[in-house]
Amino acid sequence: MTNARITAIGMSVPENAVDNKYFENIIDTTDEWIVSRTGIRTRYHAGPDVFTSDLCVNACRDLTSRYQVALDDVDMIIVSTVTPDQPMPSMACRVQYKLDLKFAGAIDVYAACAGFSYGIVMAKGLIAAGTHRKVLVIGAETLSRITDFTDRTSCMLFGDGAGAVLIEASEENGIGACVTGANGEGGIDLYLSGFADQIDGQPITTSRKIVQNGRKVFKWAVTKMSEQMPVLAEKNGLSLDQIDWFVPHSANLRIIEAICNETGFPFEKTLESIVNFGNTSSASIPLALYSGVQSGKVKRGDRIMLLGFGGGLAYAGTVITW
Ligand code: ACO
Repeated sequence: MTNARITAIGMSVPENAVDNKYFENIIDTTDEWIVSRTGIRTRYHAGPDVFTSDLCVNACRDLTSRYQVALDDVDMIIVSTVTPDQPMPSMACRVQYKLDLKFAGAIDVYAACAGFSYGIVMAKGLIAAGTHRKVLVIGAETLSRITDFTDRTSCMLFGDGAGAVLIEASEENGIGACVTGANGEGGIDLYLSGFADQIDGQPITTSRKIVQNGRKVFKWAVTKMSEQMPVLAEKNGLSLDQIDWFVPHSANLRIIEAICNETGFPFEKTLESIVNFGNTSSASIPLALYSGVQSGKVKRGDRIMLLGFGGGLAYAGTVITW
Protein backbone atom coordinates (compact mmCIF):
# COMPACT_ATOMS: atom_id res chain seq x y z
CA MET A 1 0.00 0.00 0.00
CA THR A 2 1.43 3.38 -1.00
CA ASN A 3 1.38 6.17 1.59
CA ALA A 4 0.17 9.70 0.85
CA ARG A 5 0.83 13.13 2.27
CA ILE A 6 -0.20 16.73 1.72
CA THR A 7 2.70 18.59 0.10
CA ALA A 8 1.20 22.01 -0.62
CA ILE A 9 -1.79 24.21 0.23
CA GLY A 10 -3.36 27.33 -1.31
CA MET A 11 -6.44 29.46 -0.90
CA SER A 12 -8.57 32.13 -2.50
CA VAL A 13 -11.47 34.38 -1.52
CA PRO A 14 -13.33 36.96 -3.61
CA GLU A 15 -12.42 40.66 -3.21
CA ASN A 16 -15.63 41.83 -1.59
CA ALA A 17 -15.39 41.68 2.23
CA VAL A 18 -18.77 41.94 3.98
CA ASP A 19 -18.85 42.95 7.65
CA ASN A 20 -21.68 42.44 10.15
CA LYS A 21 -22.87 46.05 9.76
CA TYR A 22 -24.09 45.11 6.29
CA PHE A 23 -26.61 42.71 7.86
CA GLU A 24 -27.82 45.37 10.33
CA ASN A 25 -29.15 47.19 7.26
CA ILE A 26 -30.98 44.26 5.66
CA ILE A 27 -32.30 42.16 8.59
CA ASP A 28 -33.21 42.65 12.24
CA THR A 29 -29.81 41.89 13.84
CA THR A 30 -26.72 43.45 15.42
CA ASP A 31 -22.98 43.03 15.08
CA GLU A 32 -22.94 42.08 18.77
CA TRP A 33 -25.51 39.26 18.26
CA ILE A 34 -23.65 37.82 15.26
CA VAL A 35 -20.26 37.91 17.00
CA SER A 36 -21.53 36.45 20.28
CA ARG A 37 -23.73 33.72 18.69
CA THR A 38 -21.47 32.68 15.82
CA GLY A 39 -17.99 34.23 16.18
CA ILE A 40 -18.22 35.65 12.65
CA ARG A 41 -16.81 39.14 11.98
CA THR A 42 -16.34 39.12 8.19
CA ARG A 43 -17.14 36.97 5.19
CA TYR A 44 -16.49 37.44 1.45
CA HIS A 45 -19.13 37.52 -1.28
CA ALA A 46 -18.35 36.85 -4.93
CA GLY A 47 -19.28 39.56 -7.42
CA PRO A 48 -21.50 38.75 -10.43
CA ASP A 49 -18.54 37.73 -12.60
CA VAL A 50 -16.79 35.48 -10.03
CA PHE A 51 -17.72 31.79 -9.99
CA THR A 52 -16.75 28.77 -7.93
CA SER A 53 -14.42 27.51 -10.68
CA ASP A 54 -12.54 30.86 -10.58
CA LEU A 55 -11.96 30.46 -6.84
CA CYS A 56 -10.75 26.87 -7.42
CA VAL A 57 -8.24 28.00 -10.05
CA ASN A 58 -7.04 30.95 -7.93
CA ALA A 59 -6.49 28.65 -4.92
CA CYS A 60 -4.37 26.33 -7.12
CA ARG A 61 -2.38 29.31 -8.43
CA ASP A 62 -1.78 30.47 -4.86
CA LEU A 63 -0.59 26.94 -4.02
CA THR A 64 1.94 26.86 -6.86
CA SER A 65 3.14 30.38 -6.03
CA ARG A 66 4.01 29.30 -2.45
CA TYR A 67 5.41 25.78 -2.93
CA GLN A 68 8.00 24.29 -5.28
CA VAL A 69 5.53 21.86 -6.82
CA ALA A 70 4.46 21.21 -10.40
CA LEU A 71 0.85 20.44 -11.24
CA ASP A 72 1.35 19.20 -14.82
CA ASP A 73 1.54 15.55 -13.73
CA VAL A 74 -1.50 15.69 -11.44
CA ASP A 75 -3.48 12.56 -12.27
CA MET A 76 -6.76 13.31 -10.45
CA ILE A 77 -8.68 16.43 -9.47
CA ILE A 78 -11.37 16.14 -6.79
CA VAL A 79 -13.51 19.23 -6.14
CA SER A 80 -15.96 19.41 -3.27
CA THR A 81 -18.74 21.97 -3.72
CA VAL A 82 -22.50 22.44 -3.39
CA THR A 83 -22.31 25.58 -5.51
CA PRO A 84 -20.85 24.57 -8.90
CA ASP A 85 -21.01 27.17 -11.69
CA GLN A 86 -23.35 24.67 -13.36
CA PRO A 87 -24.27 21.05 -12.45
CA MET A 88 -22.47 20.01 -15.65
CA PRO A 89 -19.58 20.32 -16.52
CA SER A 90 -18.08 19.46 -13.16
CA MET A 91 -15.87 21.99 -11.38
CA ALA A 92 -13.03 19.48 -11.53
CA CYS A 93 -13.29 19.50 -15.34
CA ARG A 94 -13.27 23.32 -15.33
CA VAL A 95 -10.06 23.24 -13.26
CA GLN A 96 -8.52 20.61 -15.55
CA TYR A 97 -9.27 22.83 -18.56
CA LYS A 98 -8.30 26.19 -17.05
CA LEU A 99 -4.98 24.90 -15.64
CA ASP A 100 -4.36 22.69 -18.69
CA LEU A 101 -3.71 19.56 -16.60
CA LYS A 102 -3.39 17.12 -19.50
CA PHE A 103 -3.14 13.87 -17.53
CA ALA A 104 -5.76 14.48 -14.85
CA GLY A 105 -9.03 12.69 -14.25
CA ALA A 106 -11.70 14.94 -12.79
CA ILE A 107 -14.64 14.45 -10.45
CA ASP A 108 -16.77 16.52 -8.06
CA VAL A 109 -17.92 15.25 -4.68
CA TYR A 110 -21.12 16.47 -3.14
CA ALA A 111 -21.07 16.21 0.62
CA ALA A 112 -21.43 19.88 1.66
CA CYS A 113 -19.33 20.81 4.70
CA ALA A 114 -17.97 17.26 4.95
CA GLY A 115 -16.94 17.23 1.27
CA PHE A 116 -13.34 18.37 1.59
CA SER A 117 -12.65 15.65 4.18
CA TYR A 118 -14.34 13.09 1.92
CA GLY A 119 -12.03 14.29 -0.88
CA ILE A 120 -8.98 13.64 1.30
CA VAL A 121 -10.27 10.16 2.17
CA MET A 122 -10.81 9.42 -1.53
CA ALA A 123 -7.39 10.76 -2.55
CA LYS A 124 -5.70 8.62 0.09
CA GLY A 125 -7.61 5.59 -1.23
CA LEU A 126 -6.63 6.22 -4.87
CA ILE A 127 -2.96 6.57 -3.94
CA ALA A 128 -3.06 3.54 -1.60
CA ALA A 129 -4.58 1.47 -4.42
CA GLY A 130 -1.66 2.41 -6.65
CA THR A 131 -3.87 3.79 -9.43
CA HIS A 132 -2.92 7.46 -8.84
CA ARG A 133 0.12 9.32 -7.46
CA LYS A 134 -0.72 13.02 -7.42
CA VAL A 135 -4.18 14.30 -6.52
CA LEU A 136 -5.50 17.84 -6.16
CA VAL A 137 -8.29 18.15 -3.59
CA ILE A 138 -10.18 21.44 -3.64
CA GLY A 139 -13.03 22.67 -1.43
CA ALA A 140 -14.76 25.68 -2.99
CA GLU A 141 -18.06 27.53 -2.59
CA THR A 142 -19.97 30.61 -3.62
CA LEU A 143 -22.62 30.17 -0.92
CA SER A 144 -23.72 33.81 -1.31
CA ARG A 145 -25.50 32.64 -4.49
CA ILE A 146 -27.76 30.25 -2.54
CA THR A 147 -28.19 32.35 0.62
CA ASP A 148 -31.68 33.52 1.54
CA PHE A 149 -30.95 37.15 2.46
CA THR A 150 -34.43 37.48 4.02
CA ASP A 151 -33.69 34.69 6.57
CA ARG A 152 -32.23 36.38 9.66
CA THR A 153 -31.34 33.04 11.20
CA SER A 154 -28.96 32.00 8.41
CA CYS A 155 -27.98 34.75 5.94
CA MET A 156 -25.18 36.20 8.08
CA LEU A 157 -23.51 32.79 8.40
CA PHE A 158 -22.35 32.04 4.87
CA GLY A 159 -19.28 33.12 2.92
CA ASP A 160 -17.46 32.32 -0.33
CA GLY A 161 -13.94 30.94 -0.77
CA ALA A 162 -11.73 28.05 -1.80
CA GLY A 163 -8.85 26.00 -0.45
CA ALA A 164 -6.71 23.52 -2.37
CA VAL A 165 -4.24 20.87 -1.28
CA LEU A 166 -1.88 18.70 -3.30
CA ILE A 167 -1.67 15.09 -2.11
CA GLU A 168 1.22 12.97 -3.34
CA ALA A 169 2.41 9.39 -3.01
CA SER A 170 5.05 9.43 -0.30
CA GLU A 171 7.45 7.40 1.82
CA GLU A 172 5.82 9.01 4.86
CA ASN A 173 2.37 8.06 6.08
CA GLY A 174 0.95 11.60 6.09
CA ILE A 175 -2.75 10.71 5.95
CA GLY A 176 -3.89 8.27 8.60
CA ALA A 177 -6.99 6.22 9.29
CA CYS A 178 -10.36 7.81 8.53
CA VAL A 179 -13.94 7.95 9.78
CA THR A 180 -16.92 8.43 7.47
CA GLY A 181 -20.62 8.35 8.29
CA ALA A 182 -24.05 9.78 7.63
CA ASN A 183 -27.38 10.45 9.32
CA GLY A 184 -29.55 10.90 6.23
CA GLU A 185 -32.72 11.25 8.30
CA GLY A 186 -31.44 14.76 9.10
CA GLY A 187 -31.71 15.77 5.41
CA ILE A 188 -34.85 17.72 6.31
CA ASP A 189 -32.87 19.87 8.77
CA LEU A 190 -30.37 21.26 6.23
CA TYR A 191 -31.06 21.29 2.52
CA LEU A 192 -30.81 23.24 -0.71
CA SER A 193 -34.36 23.87 -1.89
CA GLY A 194 -35.53 24.22 -5.48
CA PHE A 195 -35.03 20.68 -6.80
CA ALA A 196 -37.92 18.69 -5.29
CA ASP A 197 -40.98 19.95 -3.42
CA GLN A 198 -40.81 17.40 -0.60
CA ILE A 199 -38.38 15.31 1.44
CA ASP A 200 -39.81 11.96 2.64
CA GLY A 201 -43.32 13.31 2.08
CA GLN A 202 -42.70 16.52 4.04
CA PRO A 203 -43.36 19.61 1.88
CA ILE A 204 -40.40 22.01 1.54
CA THR A 205 -39.84 25.49 0.10
CA THR A 206 -39.05 25.64 -3.60
CA SER A 207 -36.85 28.71 -4.19
CA ARG A 208 -33.19 27.68 -4.60
CA LYS A 209 -31.80 28.59 -1.18
CA ILE A 210 -30.16 27.01 1.86
CA VAL A 211 -32.80 26.08 4.43
CA GLN A 212 -31.73 24.94 7.88
CA ASN A 213 -33.01 24.14 11.33
CA GLY A 214 -30.03 25.80 13.02
CA ARG A 215 -30.66 24.44 16.52
CA LYS A 216 -31.02 20.83 15.33
CA VAL A 217 -27.88 21.01 13.18
CA PHE A 218 -26.00 22.62 16.08
CA LYS A 219 -27.01 19.83 18.46
CA TRP A 220 -26.22 17.05 15.98
CA ALA A 221 -22.83 18.57 15.18
CA VAL A 222 -21.79 18.81 18.82
CA THR A 223 -23.05 15.35 19.79
CA LYS A 224 -21.75 13.50 16.72
CA MET A 225 -18.35 15.20 16.50
CA SER A 226 -17.73 14.80 20.24
CA GLU A 227 -18.42 11.08 19.75
CA GLN A 228 -16.25 10.78 16.62
CA MET A 229 -13.14 12.67 17.85
CA PRO A 230 -11.95 9.94 20.27
CA VAL A 231 -13.00 7.23 17.77
CA LEU A 232 -10.85 8.83 15.09
CA ALA A 233 -7.91 9.30 17.45
CA GLU A 234 -8.11 5.65 18.53
CA LYS A 235 -8.27 4.42 14.92
CA ASN A 236 -4.94 6.21 14.47
CA GLY A 237 -3.48 4.64 17.59
CA LEU A 238 -3.51 7.99 19.39
CA SER A 239 -5.17 9.60 22.37
CA LEU A 240 -6.69 13.06 22.00
CA ASP A 241 -3.81 14.67 23.90
CA GLN A 242 -1.43 13.45 21.18
CA ILE A 243 -3.29 15.57 18.60
CA ASP A 244 -1.49 18.90 18.01
CA TRP A 245 -4.31 20.66 16.14
CA PHE A 246 -8.02 20.03 15.67
CA VAL A 247 -9.55 21.45 12.48
CA PRO A 248 -13.30 20.86 12.51
CA HIS A 249 -15.64 22.33 9.90
CA SER A 250 -16.09 26.02 10.82
CA ALA A 251 -19.90 26.29 11.03
CA ASN A 252 -20.07 28.35 14.21
CA LEU A 253 -17.39 29.16 16.80
CA ARG A 254 -19.81 28.04 19.54
CA ILE A 255 -20.04 24.57 17.96
CA ILE A 256 -16.24 24.28 18.15
CA GLU A 257 -16.23 25.50 21.77
CA ALA A 258 -19.01 23.06 22.68
CA ILE A 259 -17.14 20.10 21.10
CA CYS A 260 -14.03 21.09 23.09
CA ASN A 261 -16.11 21.29 26.29
CA GLU A 262 -17.60 17.84 25.64
CA THR A 263 -14.31 16.11 24.81
CA GLY A 264 -11.91 18.07 27.02
CA PHE A 265 -9.82 18.99 23.96
CA PRO A 266 -8.13 22.41 24.49
CA PHE A 267 -9.84 25.12 22.44
CA GLU A 268 -6.42 26.86 21.96
CA LYS A 269 -5.36 23.85 19.88
CA THR A 270 -8.14 24.32 17.31
CA LEU A 271 -7.81 26.06 13.95
CA GLU A 272 -10.85 27.86 12.55
CA SER A 273 -11.84 29.96 9.56
CA ILE A 274 -15.24 31.13 10.85
CA VAL A 275 -14.17 34.50 12.32
CA ASN A 276 -12.72 35.98 9.11
CA PHE A 277 -14.53 33.99 6.41
CA GLY A 278 -17.89 32.85 7.86
CA ASN A 279 -19.18 29.37 7.12
CA THR A 280 -17.67 28.49 3.73
CA SER A 281 -18.86 24.85 3.75
CA SER A 282 -16.44 22.79 1.59
CA ALA A 283 -13.74 25.48 1.89
CA SER A 284 -13.77 25.94 5.65
CA ILE A 285 -11.28 23.22 6.64
CA PRO A 286 -8.58 24.08 4.06
CA LEU A 287 -8.98 27.80 4.86
CA ALA A 288 -8.43 27.07 8.57
CA LEU A 289 -5.49 24.77 7.86
CA TYR A 290 -3.96 27.37 5.56
CA SER A 291 -4.14 30.06 8.24
CA GLY A 292 -2.49 27.67 10.71
CA VAL A 293 0.32 26.93 8.27
CA GLN A 294 0.89 30.53 7.14
CA SER A 295 0.86 31.90 10.69
CA GLY A 296 3.59 29.39 11.62
CA LYS A 297 1.42 27.65 14.24
CA VAL A 298 1.46 24.37 12.33
CA LYS A 299 4.92 22.81 12.20
CA ARG A 300 6.29 19.95 10.10
CA GLY A 301 5.45 16.67 11.86
CA ASP A 302 2.39 18.03 13.71
CA ARG A 303 -0.56 15.67 13.96
CA ILE A 304 -3.74 17.39 12.80
CA MET A 305 -7.26 16.01 13.10
CA LEU A 306 -9.59 17.15 10.29
CA LEU A 307 -13.31 16.59 10.87
CA GLY A 308 -15.93 17.78 8.39
CA PHE A 309 -19.67 17.64 9.08
CA GLY A 310 -22.80 19.14 7.59
CA GLY A 311 -25.55 18.81 4.99
CA GLY A 312 -26.65 15.23 4.42
CA LEU A 313 -26.26 14.99 7.31
CA ALA A 314 -22.81 13.53 6.75
CA TYR A 315 -19.33 13.59 8.25
CA ALA A 316 -15.78 12.49 7.45
CA GLY A 317 -12.43 12.92 9.12
CA THR A 318 -8.84 11.81 9.27
CA VAL A 319 -5.57 12.58 11.06
CA ILE A 320 -2.84 14.06 8.89
CA THR A 321 0.83 14.51 9.73
CA TRP A 322 2.05 17.85 8.39
N1 ACO B 1 -30.01 38.49 14.90
C1 ACO B 1 -30.54 38.67 16.11
N2 ACO B 1 -31.31 37.75 16.72
C2 ACO B 1 -31.52 36.60 16.06
C3 ACO B 1 -30.98 36.33 14.78
C4 ACO B 1 -30.19 37.33 14.19
N3 ACO B 1 -29.62 37.21 12.98
N4 ACO B 1 -31.36 35.09 14.40
C5 ACO B 1 -32.12 34.59 15.37
N5 ACO B 1 -32.23 35.50 16.39
C6 ACO B 1 -32.94 35.37 17.66
C7 ACO B 1 -34.05 34.36 17.60
O1 ACO B 1 -35.23 34.96 17.11
C8 ACO B 1 -34.16 33.95 19.05
O2 ACO B 1 -34.91 34.92 19.74
P1 ACO B 1 -35.93 34.48 20.94
O3 ACO B 1 -35.03 33.86 21.99
O4 ACO B 1 -36.54 35.77 21.33
O5 ACO B 1 -36.85 33.48 20.32
C9 ACO B 1 -32.73 34.03 19.56
O6 ACO B 1 -32.02 34.86 18.64
C10 ACO B 1 -32.04 32.68 19.66
O7 ACO B 1 -32.28 31.93 18.46
P2 ACO B 1 -31.63 30.53 18.22
O8 ACO B 1 -32.12 29.97 16.93
O9 ACO B 1 -31.75 29.71 19.47
O10 ACO B 1 -30.10 30.98 18.04
P3 ACO B 1 -28.84 30.11 18.19
O11 ACO B 1 -28.10 30.57 19.35
O12 ACO B 1 -29.14 28.64 18.02
O13 ACO B 1 -28.02 30.53 16.89
C11 ACO B 1 -27.50 29.72 14.69
C12 ACO B 1 -28.56 30.34 15.59
C13 ACO B 1 -26.35 30.71 14.60
C14 ACO B 1 -28.11 29.50 13.31
C15 ACO B 1 -27.04 28.40 15.30
O14 ACO B 1 -28.14 27.59 15.62
C16 ACO B 1 -26.11 27.64 14.39
O15 ACO B 1 -25.01 28.05 14.10
N6 ACO B 1 -26.53 26.43 13.99
C17 ACO B 1 -25.72 25.56 13.15
C18 ACO B 1 -25.81 26.04 11.74
C19 ACO B 1 -24.96 25.18 10.84
O16 ACO B 1 -23.98 24.61 11.24
N7 ACO B 1 -25.35 25.08 9.62
C20 ACO B 1 -24.58 24.32 8.68
C21 ACO B 1 -24.91 24.86 7.37
S1 ACO B 1 -23.55 24.72 6.29
C22 ACO B 1 -23.95 23.80 4.92
O17 ACO B 1 -24.12 22.61 5.00
C23 ACO B 1 -24.03 24.57 3.63
